Amino acid sequence: MWTVAVTIAVLSQKGGTGKTTLTRSLAEGMSRAGLRTLAIDADPQGNLSEYFGVPADAFPTLGEVLAGQQRAMDAIHGDVIPANLGLAEAELMLAGKIGRELTLRSALREPKRHYDICLIDCPPTLGLLTVNALVASDWAILSSEAEHFSEQGAEQAMEVIGLARENLNPDLDLLGVLLNIADMRTKHARATLRTLQDRFGDKVFETVIRRSIVYPESAQAATSIFEYRRRKAIDYARLTAEVLQRLNLVPQLARAQEMVGELEPKRQT
Ligand SMILES: Nc1ncnc2c1ncn2[C@@H]1O[C@H](COP(=O)(O)OP(=O)(O)O)[C@@H](O)[C@H]1O
Ligand SMILES: [Mg+2]
Repeated sequence: MWTVAVTIAVLSQKGGTGKTTLTRSLAEGMSRAGLRTLAIDADPQGNLSEYFGVPADAFPTLGEVLAGQQRAMDAIHGDVIPANLGLAEAELMLAGKIGRELTLRSALREPKRHYDICLIDCPPTLGLLTVNALVASDWAILSSEAEHFSEQGAEQAMEVIGLARENLNPDLDLLGVLLNIADMRTKHARATLRTLQDRFGDKVFETVIRRSIVYPESAQAATSIFEYRRRKAIDYARLTAEVLQRLNLVPQLARAQEMVGELEPKRQT
């Protein structure tokens, strides 16, 4: 559709905020909406790779790509560039190199010509890998967990986005802020949503991803939520539609909206 994929980094201020689940589910939503979607695991924990069911011994991975030993095109398994603990080593190696923040951006140049969308799952730290992801991206999505939200953490993430934009990637922009893993029956979650809206205005997605046990279950089963428990995919179908709207992808948005219509609970008449 495009000649170069639109690239989105999914980040947060810390671990456990639902980033990997968001990346997995959004990748599924977008490909169901008709976009060729590449998911990139930039976390040495490799949770995204596992969630996609990429074999643990898949080779090469993002680690070898960032170390300059392999081409990114060869590291695509299915539609995933996986990661494992070797990525932590690659990050250390990278730290001493000139252009260390630009390595992922250069590596993805070729894959980006074969996809419409690249989604990058960032590690839980705001270090060199996250900076590489931001420099390689057009957009950032910030995931905030309702229960353990910290304003300070969100500000730190925004600072890193700001630094990446000012120094290395002037095209980077915030696509949106997501309230994730939320139980809106609690006062705390509602207060967190208000805090986010005060700070980020309409950058906050209208969709809130509700807390549900089906997410860890679907990760365990290495199956996306759309297949694991179709009815429960409504939140991520809505989020997909919102993201496509913000990206102004009209035909794909229509498909995502159809998907939302199919998944919406039927009203009793
Ligand atoms: N909406 C949700 N409701 C309940 N649990 C969730 C939800 N989204 C993610 N989880 C679970 O929370 C944990 C952390 O999520 P994960 O996506 O791995 O976050 P991160 O990548 O930010 O560390 C995982 O066990 C995951 O299955
Ligand atoms: Mg993760």
